[in-house]
Amino acid sequence: MQYESLVAWAREQWEMRSPTLKALTIWASSDCGNRIAQQQVKVGRRIRGKARFEGVERLDCPAITPISDYGTRGKRMMLTSGSGAYAFRFADDRGAFEVIYASSYIGDDTQDLTAIALVPEDRLDIWASFEFMCARAVRPRIKRRRDVYIVGGTDSFFDPTVEWEDVILSDELKARLLDDMEAFFTRGVEIYRQLKLPPFRKLLLAGVPGTGKTMLCAAMAKIAISRGRVVVYVSGADRDGASFEKIQRALQAVTAARYPVLLIVEELDAYLQGDDKARVLNVLDGVESPNNPKGALLLATTNYPEAIDERIAKRPGRLDRVFIIPTIQDEQQAERMLRHYMRESWRDEHLAVVPRLVEQPGAFVREVALHARMLAAHEHRLDVTLAMLEESVFSLLRQIRSESDYLTRRPMGLANHTKKSTRSPFNP
Ligand SMILES: Nc1ncnc2c1ncn2[C@@H]1O[C@H](COP(=O)(O)OP(=O)(O)OP(=O)(O)O)[C@@H](O)[C@H]1O
Ligand SMILES: [Mg+2]
Repeated sequence: MQYESLVAWAREQWEMRSPTLKALTIWASSDCGNRIAQQQVKVGRRIRGKARFEGVERLDCPAITPISDYGTRGKRMMLTSGSGAYAFRFADDRGAFEVIYASSYIGDDTQDLTAIALVPEDRLDIWASFEFMCARAVRPRIKRRRDVYIVGGTDSFFDPTVEWEDVILSDELKARLLDDMEAFFTRGVEIYRQLKLPPFRKLLLAGVPGTGKTMLCAAMAKIAISRGRVVVYVSGADRDGASFEKIQRALQAVTAARYPVLLIVEELDAYLQGDDKARVLNVLDGVESPNNPKGALLLATTNYPEAIDERIAKRPGRLDRVFIIPTIQDEQQAERMLRHYMRESWRDEHLAVVPRLVEQPGAFVREVALHARMLAAHEHRLDVTLAMLEESVFSLLRQIRSESDYLTRRPMGLANHTKKSTRSPFNP
């Protein structure tokens, strides 16, 4: 077994380097071999009590092929996790000591690192603190921007500056959603407390792409912030994808916050695939849900409700409420949307295209308006003619029909399910 050869090698090193100390052999955290941790945990760093980290030496272990993974941190490309062998040096009031450490990819088919370490038996607590430090350095950072903590995504990803009035949906739907949030934070939290339940409420926004779910989240976030709440935003749209790790980081932030929290998880369905599924369900079920005494409201989005549907159906209470965010419902709403995106270019003759906008998502109308206004600009005209607007509608419809999935901006294979989703069991 690979781990046995790692241990055998580490024991030989131990005999040569620390013959007078008694060693414990332990499973160690692979984070100590991570280059990010090695850069961030600096020589001289206080570990615990009088103990200090004194440096690390790379060792050559014939049983290990050193391979690194890489990724971006901010704008920089850096080496991240990797296999390798090291001697970590520490000193405390009883003198200097070393930990011999080896991590390696054990299987051919998984990229899971297994790490072992030999630690002086009376210094295990110091090593444990050091491992914890390394793990903290490695985990994806939560960036705090104003009152928003962002987990994943990029800096400019989520901006809670959307005005509530700019979200064009039925007033009734908007009111229900806002009332739900307010009722929870103002009265609901106390009710959960009386029932000795962690105050954690879960809402899902479901709808086909481009209906304004992200926009709605941003507008809700703006309101939440103005009322003294903190927003935690989780996005799967970066190299780390939709990992449970991110949810975990977010939940830690939710629990640690001393304020009520609005937790936004975009594309919840993506976390319900693969190995992380069970753990995400645990969070929804309350087994691993965050306990923030001031209250936490989860606002999750999906444009693939089928992926969530079955498991919710089997277990009521996983999500407290599902809001369907529909495409444009009627001509009145279509007109509002078109006027909104035409702004000062609006002319009453544009009403002629309104019937064609019904049952399209808001993003469609925005594209139509933008395209028509660009056509006018291209012809050095200030006004947008009806012909331009019609041309814009037709070219966009043509584009969609020819299966160019302009609305599907995520690499999730969602093309074509626009139609399917409208028939989902969530639709009233
Ligand atoms: N209901 C709406 N009111 C006003 N603008 C809208 C609406 N829906 C969509 N839009 C416009 O379309 C853009 C895209 O919408 P948004 O990103 O919120 O859709 P989404 O539902 O989150 O889509 P996806 O499921 O693909 O993530 C918005 O930034 C906005 O400009
Ligand atoms: Mg979105």
